[in-house]
Amino acid sequence: MQLTEGSDSPLHPGPLDTVIRNAAVVDGSGGPRFHADVAIHRGKIHSIGVGLAGRFQQELDGAGQVLAPGFIDVHTHDDYAVISDRSNLCKISQGVTTVVTGNCGVSIAPLNIRYRPPPPLDLLSGDPDHFFATFEDYFKYLEDSPAAVNVAAQVGHSTLRVATMSDLQRPADAGEIKRMRRLLEDALRAGAIGMSTGLFYRTAQASTTQEVIDVAKGMRERGAIHTTHMRDEADAVAESLAETFRIGREADVPVIVSHHKCSGTRNFGRSIETLALIDAAARQQEVGFDVYPYCASSSVLDVEKFRDATRIVVSWSIPHPEAAGRDLAELAAEHGLSQKAMADRLQPAGGIYFMMDEVDVSRILAHPQSMIGSDGLPGDTHPHPRLWGTFPRVLGHYSRELNLFPLEAAVRKMTSLSARQFNLSNRGLVRPGYQADLVLFDPLTVKDLATFDHPVRHSAGIHLVMVNGAAVYQDGAATGAFPGQVLRRS
Ligand code: ZN
Ligand code: CU
Repeated sequence: MQLTEGSDSPLHPGPLDTVIRNAAVVDGSGGPRFHADVAIHRGKIHSIGVGLAGRFQQELDGAGQVLAPGFIDVHTHDDYAVISDRSNLCKISQGVTTVVTGNCGVSIAPLNIRYRPPPPLDLLSGDPDHFFATFEDYFKYLEDSPAAVNVAAQVGHSTLRVATMSDLQRPADAGEIKRMRRLLEDALRAGAIGMSTGLFYRTAQASTTQEVIDVAKGMRERGAIHTTHMRDEADAVAESLAETFRIGREADVPVIVSHHKCSGTRNFGRSIETLALIDAAARQQEVGFDVYPYCASSSVLDVEKFRDATRIVVSWSIPHPEAAGRDLAELAAEHGLSQKAMADRLQPAGGIYFMMDEVDVSRILAHPQSMIGSDGLPGDTHPHPRLWGTFPRVLGHYSRELNLFPLEAAVRKMTSLSARQFNLSNRGLVRPGYQADLVLFDPLTVKDLATFDHPVRHSAGIHLVMVNGAAVYQDGAATGAFPGQVLRRS
């Protein structure tokens, strides 16, 4: 990266902060790249043009590189990670500048308990003191002590259930629904962007469709969205999509299907059917979906819930941390136990589940409306490689190597499409007046290096990442800047 001195500006009284010269701008819209200089001032994109004149405090040479909007990770469980590891290296090293938290029904607020949170809430943290009683408290904390990345937060329906119900194995009654609604409204008022459900999980599987509709009603007038880890992503995936669309229609709220997949060998190939169902629904109501670029999922360790997996790898275990990275079947054989008994011995624990078909993953990725979300689990000892590799994998493996879609389309899936569907204003495009969340990368070498065996690795080809105009990642390392903002719903 070169630093040169700028010339006098006829356009601006003082010097502008930064100019990035001669990069190929892939602006996030999906349109073709163009070569230009991009000037940045006070955290925003100031101007875009060829041979931009003016004085700049810093000039960067972008020749041979692509300049794109910073990537938006629409599916994260970074609620606590943005506090515990403010550099968010696993994200900024991929070019991610914004994370959406509170997915799969679990959020770090509003919750005030004195015991270890039940799975899957413990994917965020096993310590009840790490949770916040209100979203206002959480946002204040993040604003006083910002992360490297921007944070947009959702409210988790399972968190609301844990906060209001003594028995999670039944539907909520009228009084509990009322209390959940009040908590949700407080959170939305504080600036949460929507509510997620995880009807698949034991904390929410007993809730009826009507319970979710009743809690979610009233979100529309606040401009909030609803995302869901559906009740079933395997044999009953079509029924679960129908349930999701019904919730969207009856609560009158836009719905986003999280990490869309067809699980289990019996369901391989069914993405033809599920994508057609999504397309049909999208003609009647607001529907979106995200996906991660791998054939394995990851969550809490639960061999009954994930019975369709052909292979399970332990990602963490509190009593047996040495089990992380090992095959559950191997561990079970060594101990002369069934996989279920072995899993019981490892609890609380997490797992990686091989259960999807590459053809489906590619087909879902190639759909023009799919967004990219990592679903990475930052607390895991031996994490799924999606935590460190998702975005460069889409750019390098799926776009460049497999030629599944052009680079411009890949970038749109991680920027403008996501900003629009999650209502993140002034982000996701390289446009004057937009926030200067930017990533400069080499289109010929960008690539994920994290693997299932070696999951903690920086990606190749990511040269510079800026959040609100400040560099957070440069030359392979975090800069130590923490310019992240809380993206409160406006
Ligand atoms: Zn999920
Ligand atoms: Cu998730």
